[in-house]
Amino acid sequence: MFQNTIRNNIRNNIKNQFKFKSFIRNSSIISVHRDTAENNPEIPFEFTEENAKKAEIIIQKYPPQYKKGACMPLLDLAQRQIGFTSISAMNYVAKKLNMPPMRVYEVATFYTMYQRKPVGKYHIQVCTTTPCQLCNSDQVMETIMDNLNLKPGQISNDGLFSLEEVECLGACANAPMFQINDDFYEDLHDKEEILKILDSFKNGKPLKAGTTKRESCEPYSGPKTLIQDECLDVSKITRSDL
Ligand code: FES
Repeated sequence: MFQNTIRNNIRNNIKNQFKFKSFIRNSSIISVHRDTAENNPEIPFEFTEENAKKAEIIIQKYPPQYKKGACMPLLDLAQRQIGFTSISAMNYVAKKLNMPPMRVYEVATFYTMYQRKPVGKYHIQVCTTTPCQLCNSDQVMETIMDNLNLKPGQISNDGLFSLEEVECLGACANAPMFQINDDFYEDLHDKEEILKILDSFKNGKPLKAGTTKRESCEPYSGPKTLIQDECLDVSKITRSDL
């Protein structure tokens, strides 16, 4: 009883101090398969002639006993062919690599790069993992949701956009960020900038990906290391016979 009171007091204090805004979203990631008209095992899938050749080149990179290592690139190839990673595509890849289908399903359900249902022409993945969240990824998500009238997991009526909330995309130094199809848009601190990017896609002239605030991921105040004036002469710090 006493412990509960203390716990509630601490919780209330924290809430009041930081004025936490609860931004609750449920994951839209599909972890189980349910047959639908556009995604069921009866729909045939095979690589196009061109992709079959690419698949062979990929498979040859792996020793024959480890060809299952080609699972991820082959799933990616299949996704690029039909726009999403269907159950038939997963079964096809499993067969091609002599893998139990379940092993392929495990890969496809773990990585958010595999879309398990059809997505829009421009698929937006907003990272909301801790570094991005601390840099206000909530604002990024809210701006997109409001502007496109979409929730994570949904696709716009015109099929142009779809939205997904994902875990770290590996651009934490330039947080907050989102990915549209294959490209990263970073340092998205301003609402106006996010809107500008969305508008550019709506108008069919996507803005250049990356960041407009700095060259890459150096400090905002400019690079501090490996600057040209201070090029390191390794001969001065290594053995003369090297
Ligand atoms: S946390 Fe967002 S890119 Fe790493």
